[in-house]
Amino acid sequence: MSKKILVANWKNHPESLDEVKVILKGLSRKSAVYKKLNFFIAPPLSYLESVSKGIKSFGSLASQDIPTVIEGTHTGIVSVNILKNFGTRLSIIGHSERRAMGETNKEISLKIKIALKSGIIPLLCVGELVRGKEGEHFEFIREQIRLSLEGIKKADLYKKVVIAYEPIWAIGKSAKEAIEPKDLEQMIIFIKKVLTDLFGRDLAENTMILYGGSVEATNIGSIMDVGVDGFLVGHASLEAGSLNSIASSLIS
Ligand code: PGA
Repeated sequence: MSKKILVANWKNHPESLDEVKVILKGLSRKSAVYKKLNFFIAPPLSYLESVSKGIKSFGSLASQDIPTVIEGTHTGIVSVNILKNFGTRLSIIGHSERRAMGETNKEISLKIKIALKSGIIPLLCVGELVRGKEGEHFEFIREQIRLSLEGIKKADLYKKVVIAYEPIWAIGKSAKEAIEPKDLEQMIIFIKKVLTDLFGRDLAENTMILYGGSVEATNIGSIMDVGVDGFLVGHASLEAGSLNSIASSLIS
């Protein structure tokens, strides 16, 4: 079994380099734990250098997005090559907060292709806004996965793409409001079924599936054994103590 994946999604935080240093120092105390995981931090771009140096011995850089352009001159864009040369190994693609800004499944599939071509692991995020009483959210997730992976060859995705299930209703809340373990287990099985229908069982069995949405030190214990291969952590990753507890639980 591969190592579990832990991705810290810092979003647009923290607000100062001093705070970044405090977090990194706190995480480095548990470097032995992080080495037993595939650990990534996706910081704001301004902190790429500090984070890359700070976690060099126990983790890797991730980006929170990837541009859709490769060639040419584009003001305001940090190119895939810059990200790559800084050591970015994984890119969060299709996060709900970017979809809310208008990002489409078509752009997401293009970004996944660009990441794969650049040797960066695409972490495709999917998640429904609300849980439908009749199970409508399952069909919504099926469509998101189908359209986001449309036009991409199975051979290119095999053991390379990672999927994060992040229900929007559970993001940025508290552990109490996160998903119930049984509902998460059901969704993981469903996502594997969708991948089997689209690409075959071998791809489904070899695709790592993460969960994100109010993962905290207090609920990790109940959701880590329901078939998930790791976690995408937002607010709890901005405090070294919380992330250290989450990481320690994952290797226990
Ligand atoms: P959260 O964020 O852990 O604060 O809910 C997760 C995410 O949006 O990736």
